[in-house]
Amino acid sequence: MTSPVSAAERRRPLVVAIDGPAASGKSSTAKWVARVLGFRHVDSGALYRAATAATLRAAPGDTGWTEDAVLAAAAAVTLVPGETSFHAHLDGVDAEEELRGGAVTSRVSLVARMPRVRDWVNAMVRRAAEGSPVVVDGRDMGTAVFPHARVKVFLVADSWERAKRRLVQRLERVPTDAEIADEVDALVQRDAKDEAQTRQAADAVLIDTTYLTQEEQVERIVAIARAAMR
Ligand code: C5P
Repeated sequence: MTSPVSAAERRRPLVVAIDGPAASGKSSTAKWVARVLGFRHVDSGALYRAATAATLRAAPGDTGWTEDAVLAAAAAVTLVPGETSFHAHLDGVDAEEELRGGAVTSRVSLVARMPRVRDWVNAMVRRAAEGSPVVVDGRDMGTAVFPHARVKVFLVADSWERAKRRLVQRLERVPTDAEIADEVDALVQRDAKDEAQTRQAADAVLIDTTYLTQEEQVERIVAIARAAMR
């Protein structure tokens, strides 16, 4: 959490920034925290995914993507406010399944390394936070995007646990140890690809969720946010 809050800062819409590596539970926790606080949730990763999906749609067979090509394709992406979350739409339509698919996941880190794509995502997220309080999640929300966020949390978890949670969500059953081990490999590779973009703010509260339920994570973050609002 950041230091003393000035009167000007108090008047600014509140930002709760939740960062952390892949499958650390950021998005589902952020969504829940937003619901409890009555804020809107913004998933910055969904915008990187949407830009990637838009480029795949525009140039399906192409592999040598340039920054200009990605930015041109990203014109098809809009961030639409829903009741409790903003949703990244492609050509005006919710494309959640496409955004979470393997084709996007395997290319998104490459797109996320493009500086002008990062500027584009950051501007969209900041605009979403202009009007009302938000819970934002990503890799650099508490550093590059909202360095003055009143609440900053960095979530981490053991890679075995992260892999297991991800598989339970995807398979809707208890995964085998062999399946978890394969998923750990995939996660470790994505962590390595995202390392440069993932930044823990010096003033973020570090929460290791390995032994916490999601409800406990949410309670902690809500408590931190309520303390910051007082
Ligand atoms: O959070 P999620 O895993 O859906 O994010 C997808 C990808 O977007 C990440 O693997 C990372 O490459 C990129 N990302 C980023 N900075 C953010 C959020 C996501 O570089 N703030």
